[in-house]
Amino acid sequence: MNSENKQFEALFDYATIGIIVTDKTGIIINFNKKAEQDFGYHKEELIGKAVEILLPSTHTAKHANYRSGYYQHPSPRAMGAGRDLFGKRKDGSVFPVEVSLSNYTADGDLFVIAFIIDITVRKDIEIAKQQQQEELSKITFEVKRLNASLEKKVEDRTKMLREALSALEQSKEELSEALQAEKSLNELKSRFVSMASHEFKTPLSTILSSAFLLEKYNNMPEPEKREKHIERIKNAVYDMKDILGDFLSLDKLDEGLIQSNIHLMPAADCIQLIETTVSEMEVTLKKGQQINFNHVGNAEARIDRLLMKNIIINLLSNAIKFSAENSFINITVRLAKDGLTLIVQDFGIGISEEDRQHLFKRFFRAKNAFNIQGTGLGLHIITRYLELMHGTIRLESELDKGSVFTIFIPN
Ligand SMILES: Nc1ncnc2c1ncn2[C@@H]1O[C@H](COP(=O)(O)OP(=O)(O)OP(=O)(O)O)[C@@H](O)[C@H]1O
Ligand SMILES: [Mg+2]
Repeated sequence: MNSENKQFEALFDYATIGIIVTDKTGIIINFNKKAEQDFGYHKEELIGKAVEILLPSTHTAKHANYRSGYYQHPSPRAMGAGRDLFGKRKDGSVFPVEVSLSNYTADGDLFVIAFIIDITVRKDIEIAKQQQQEELSKITFEVKRLNASLEKKVEDRTKMLREALSALEQSKEELSEALQAEKSLNELKSRFVSMASHEFKTPLSTILSSAFLLEKYNNMPEPEKREKHIERIKNAVYDMKDILGDFLSLDKLDEGLIQSNIHLMPAADCIQLIETTVSEMEVTLKKGQQINFNHVGNAEARIDRLLMKNIIINLLSNAIKFSAENSFINITVRLAKDGLTLIVQDFGIGISEEDRQHLFKRFFRAKNAFNIQGTGLGLHIITRYLELMHGTIRLESELDKGSVFTIFIPN
């Protein structure tokens, strides 16, 4: 072997890439050391074998086709553009490769040289890079998700905070409303005290003067005079009792102490209750006043006996008080399936439209009632009693003609 040949052999054997030489039928005729290392064969094991021995079995059939194609138009080029190439070691394991092809002709025969680089490390790096990228995009996604959930949380907390604030505001309002109610109740009570002391003045001075006179008439033989003053004292006491009664029932209503005891009452009992109450009131009629009592229907009524009685007393005492001597008062009761209707009509002083707006407020008294005794509580108490029985009250009136109060209590 001359030195040039030796040099070429060294070049072939110590090249840092694998080199395989095949003949035109794909039979291996040479194999360098690097290729031996990469594929795990000894050169002698491969010389004379088809090159496909170095390919994974899934690639061998196609490779034979590519090979004959290449031999028809041989040129130096990279192999396997656009696809991954693999080599198969002696132990059957597979590894990624990069292959470029070249050829030469000797003695009229075509030979092909394949330069093979094991790219396992590069592929591993590529895979690691891709994995890292995937990992990164997962993390980015997670960060975005966390961010969104954080934003949502912040939004929720803000909303909660806002709600808490508005609840606070609400309870503040409620507190100040309660305070206001307490204040106005106190105002009402002190107003009542001054009103009551005013109202009490007249009956008290009547009682006082009558008592003096009684003392004076004590030894006189005129029993009618004594009786007259005893009667005046009694009436004055009744008046005071009425005023106190009104206030006490209002107080009880305010404190929720009055509870209704509603039950179904047969028509006959209901009519009897109203009739008795009316006849009890007859003693308070003015001279010549007359009550007409009518009733229609015979359905049961769903009422509270005591509340009903008080409503009638209040309405009737107004009708008597606010109408003149010799006038009529009409009372009608209608007992229908859907409920009880009670109508109290008088032909007295009536109520102006303006005053009608405020009539059911506590202590309200119409202008034309100025000279007539009263505290302005009766109608208010009626509305409170009706609330307890789920009833309603309606009023029609004309000044100096009279008034009609209609109450309805549903069954
Ligand atoms: N039948 C009526 N005719 C004319 N005015 C009436 C009649 N009923 C009520 N009013 C007017 O409505 C006001 C309020 O009536 P309400 O019964 O509440 O009070 P009052 O009769 O003045 O006092 P109290 O009933 O507390 O003794 C009366 O002061 C009066 O001005
Ligand atoms: Mg009254």
